[in-house]
Formats: sequence, structure tokens, C-alpha cells
Amino acid sequence: MTDRESSFRPDAQIADDILGYLDTHENKSLLRFLTCGSVDDGKSTLIGRLLYDTKMIYEDQLAAVERDSKRVGTTGDAPDLALLVDGLAAEREQGITIDVAYRFFSTEKRKFIVADTPGHEQYTRNMATGASTADVAVILIDARYGIQTQTRRHAFIASLLGIRHVAVAVNKMDLVDWSEQRLQEIESGFREFSGDLGFADISCIPMSALTGDNVSEPSSHMSWYHGPLLLHYLESVDISEGGEDAPFRLPVQWVNRPNLDFRGFSGTVASGSISPGEEIITIPSGKRSRVKAISTYDGNLDRAVRHQAITLVLEDEIDSSRGDIICDKDHPAEQSDQFQAKLLWMSEQAMLPGRQYRLKTGNKTVGASISALKHTIDVNDFSEAAAKVLGLNEVGEVNLALAQPIAFDPYAANRRTGSFILIDRQTNETVGAGMLDHSLRRAANVVWQDLHVGREERAAQKLQRPAVLWLTGLSGSGKSTIANLVEKRLYDLGRHTYVLDGDNVRHGLNKDLGFTDADRVENIRRVSEAAKLMADAGLIALVSFISPFRSERQIARSMMDEGEFIEIYVDTPLEVAEARDVKGLYAKARAGEIKNFTGIDSAYEAPLNPEISVNTVKMSAEDAAQMIVDYLDEKGLLGGPVFHGGL
Ligand code: ADX
Repeated sequence: MTDRESSFRPDAQIADDILGYLDTHENKSLLRFLTCGSVDDGKSTLIGRLLYDTKMIYEDQLAAVERDSKRVGTTGDAPDLALLVDGLAAEREQGITIDVAYRFFSTEKRKFIVADTPGHEQYTRNMATGASTADVAVILIDARYGIQTQTRRHAFIASLLGIRHVAVAVNKMDLVDWSEQRLQEIESGFREFSGDLGFADISCIPMSALTGDNVSEPSSHMSWYHGPLLLHYLESVDISEGGEDAPFRLPVQWVNRPNLDFRGFSGTVASGSISPGEEIITIPSGKRSRVKAISTYDGNLDRAVRHQAITLVLEDEIDSSRGDIICDKDHPAEQSDQFQAKLLWMSEQAMLPGRQYRLKTGNKTVGASISALKHTIDVNDFSEAAAKVLGLNEVGEVNLALAQPIAFDPYAANRRTGSFILIDRQTNETVGAGMLDHSLRRAANVVWQDLHVGREERAAQKLQRPAVLWLTGLSGSGKSTIANLVEKRLYDLGRHTYVLDGDNVRHGLNKDLGFTDADRVENIRRVSEAAKLMADAGLIALVSFISPFRSERQIARSMMDEGEFIEIYVDTPLEVAEARDVKGLYAKARAGEIKNFTGIDSAYEAPLNPEISVNTVKMSAEDAAQMIVDYLDEKGLLGGPVFHGGL
């Protein structure tokens, strides 16, 4: 059989040798690939053609397509293969949105899973989802129009997600007279712009999905073309990276301990291979041992390779837990808590630097925030631009700070152990997907100074306990008035306090910040750190900031010791605050002179479970202050003696 012949005739083998067929089928390698392009480029027709040519279409589906083709098709008497795929796509649109459609087909050499993702820019995140598990991208180009903005976007996302092999399917060659020159123009254009995208190989295949030329059958119209057919390319492209030659990585999914005599570390091999007797090291814990046995549901193995789910039994009793990576001893993964990374934002709610998210990599989830958005990268022309936030479907280069170190590899070295997702803490929605470029060593060089006098000592000297009283509410709700009264009372009781007030702090420490969501997040992040230092100094800190977002208040809470953070909701309805309009700001905001004004055109998220809620319509500021002091007293937060009625 030559390169150019179609290689698959399953029906004959199924009839003659069903067991042989099943056996080869079982042992065939699997290729996952992604198709990028739009319906206009002929994507549906191409997928339909692959399914049709590899006999993956049932008789009844084909009959339906033939029937529909006569009615609504665009291909004359021939079946319109796009209807096969678009039929499913239409169902998809009507029903619940499935982000990516996966289709399956096989030849005698390989099994294939195609991730079919929509081509438009607003579907960038869907494409990234499909690309994240694919080894090959088939990028469709309509030969008439050549390279388009979306071609560049597709190539960029494929490269960003670590795809190293690209087939450029130059489709609709029948509409450019099967022109060799046209192919060459498109090919040289593609190679030129994608030079920096790090593809290991690029194959440009001229074809017509409609007529089937060069998909799985050689074209009689393009005798000048000597490269592979698309199907042959897919059958033969070498995707062994991450295979047996790559360093071994097993992200630990769980520690399997059914009884005292057995202890194993279970997970799926992310890369490389392992055999009994080989030495391993666990990262981050750094423990070493040797593999005693590799157990699976089907018995023990002599060798385990990528994608296999195994349980490793080690010779020594070492302590390793979920999220650790068991590595080849000579090529261990790195560990860090500070990274440079690329981030694709997938949520309608913009990414805000400084906001706390949960970062999940392999089997580990840790707290994380973006410490800097260095720049955005335009997915269409790869240009870089400064930005304060990342919006839906935008890509940025960022610095990440994690709450604890994780084991990782740079994404370029290992896609499994070098990628992560970000999860919103409030909604649990996946809001971003990213790739770790490298560790930033800076943080490792800053060592926490242990001081001899601790917060307990400092507070005890003042005969009190540290606390943070966090007042949140709309502008003009009365936060500052109440905070001042509370401080006065505490002062009279001999307690040591300090008030951090939004208007004042914004004149100094936070002078550089305005009122965008991103700036408010940073405002609250800084004031939380300041409040934490004050609590450490043994003070009772009163924080009086609008602090409109639950997420940041939650983080402030989590920074303090148990019981130390007291959230006080100064509950004044917008109408009331607006009617009072002490500073005249509501009037200005209504007149459009102030933008992003809380309650008008910027959100306020009321606390769900505050320790104290003050209804300022029903209660005077004095009574509210007294209620707060009483609360502190009841909870024992005031420490030394309190003389009731003496104020
Ligand atoms: S926060 O939202 O970032 O917590 P913060 O408490 O520091 O706000 O500052 C709020 C104060 O800034 C308000 O009390 C008001 O005096 C003033 N201000 C000016 N512009 C705005 C605005 N757009 N939104 C809210 N407050 C504003």
C-alpha cells in the first residue's frame, strides 16, 4: 500500500476475523486532535468526510443525510456531509450548551478523538478546552481567502495550549483551480507568522473536503502534491513526547491504604514510565524510595506508561499526600509558590489582580492571586498591551502568588504538570486556564523574620486581645461615624485602638487607587494587610471601608486568627444613604459626574453572615456603637475589666 491509498477497510476484516479486528482495535494508539476553523471554511464537511470515509456513519444516519441533502443540501446529488455534523451542532445550540463536541472514529492504525470547537472569537475558551487535551491541531483555511485573523488566533491558542503538531488543511482547492501556487502562498504565509509559536512540525495539505480530494483518497487534480493525505498524516504523526523517554511523573490522587499491610499511591501516569526497582522522589516533600510493585485493577505490572491508572507500592513507608508528584529521582519536578504564567480568562467577570482565587493543578488545590498583570496578548495578532484587568476570552502574561508551594514542570516541558485552572471562591466556577512558564525565585529569597515578642505578648501588655472590627456598607451609610464612636468608647475603657478609614487611607497609602473593581480589590487587599499588622501589634483595629465585594472581605477574614475578625454590616438602604448625601457625592454620581459609584453603577455585595448587623434606620449611631462594644465584651475580646455604665 502506498502513502496515498486509503488505509482502512474495516468491513472486510469484521466479516472475516472479528476477533482479530477487536484485538487490533484494542491495541491501537489513540490520537486526540482538534479542528479549528468555521463552518464557512468547510469544517463540518471535513469532519463529516472523515467519519464517512472511515465508515463511522450508520446506515440510517447516511440515509437521513442523503434525504436531507436533496432537500436542503448544497451539493447536488452527492450527500452533503456537513449536514451530519451540523445536525448535531444545531441540536447542541437548542439544548444545553455543550462546550466542545467530541467525535470518535478509527482506522486500522489508530483511534481518533476529534474535538470540534466553534471558530469565533467569543468561543476562544471553548477552543482552549478542546485544545488542552489534543496532540494535533487541524487548522482549516479556505483556499480562496487564505490566512485570516481567525487563522492566527487558532494557531496562537493551539500553541498556547502546548499543541506541537499542526496540519494546515487548505480546503476548497476545487474553487481555486487546484492551484499549486495558491497553496505555496498560503503555506509560506502560515510558516512566516507561526515561526515563534513553537510548533515541532507543520504540514500543509491541499484538499477539498467536499469532493474528498486528499482527505482519505488521493486527488487526481493535484498531481503536483506529494505530501501525505490528511488521514494518513493523522495516522502517522509522531506524538511520542511525554511517552517513555520523558521523565516519570505520577501526580498522587489519593493514598490507598485499605489495611495496615498495604499502602500505595494512586494516580494516572502523566508522563514517562516506571518499573519495579526504580528509584523515585516525591515533590514537594522531597522523600526518596524505590518502587516495590505497580498494582492495577487487572493485577501487577512490570512497567507502567503515560495515561495508565496505577497504584505505586514503595519499599519505604514515606509520607506523601494528594497533590504531591512522584518523580523520576534524577529528573524531579520543581516546586515554587511564585510563577510567571500565561492565563486565558474564561469568565464574564473580569480577572482582578490581587483577588484571591483557588488554583488547581494536577490533584492539588491552593489559594492563589495574580500579583501582577504584566500585559495582555492579542489573540489575533499576538501584540502585547498594558492592561489593568483581563476580560472574557483575553489572554495575559501574569505573575502568580500561591498560598503554598506546589510541584510543577514548566508547561513547555510537561502539559499535564505545567497547566492549571483558576476557580472562583464564591461561585466555584472555573474562571481561567493557564500555563506555568517558570518559577519566580524572588519570594524564595525573602525569609519570614521570627520576632521574639509575639502578638500575644503585645496584646497582653495592653491587657486586651487583638481584633479587627470590619465595618462595611454603602458610602454615607454611617460607617465612619459608628467607628469613631466605638473607638471613643474603647479609648475611654483604656483599650488601644486604631481606625483605618477609607477616605483617609486613600489620601496616603492608597493614593494611587481609584474606584474601578480592580482598584477596589487592591484597596482592600492593602488595608487587610495593614489591619493584620495592627492586630499583630496587639491593637483593636477598626476598618471602615465600603469594601463592596464578598470575596475580598472573606480573604480579610481568613487572614486573621479564629474569632478575631468581626464583620459589621452597616445596613443603610441606598435610598436612605442617597437622601442623606452628606458629601454630595450621590447627586454628582446621578448627574454622571462620578463614575463607578457604589450602589449606582458599581456593585455592593451585602454580607451574608456578618457577626453584627446594624440597621441605621432603626438605630442611632450611639446605640449601634454601644451594641458593638457589648458584643466585644460578651465575646471576651476586651480582655481586662470593663466598667459598665461608666461611659
Ligand atoms: S472601597 O469601595 O474601595 O472600599 P473606600 O471605602 O476606600 O471604597 O472609599 C469610599 C469613599 O470614597 C466614599 O465614602 C466616598 O467618600 C469616596 N468616593 C469617591 N468616589 C467614589 C465612588 N466612585 N464610589 C464610592 N465611593 C467613592
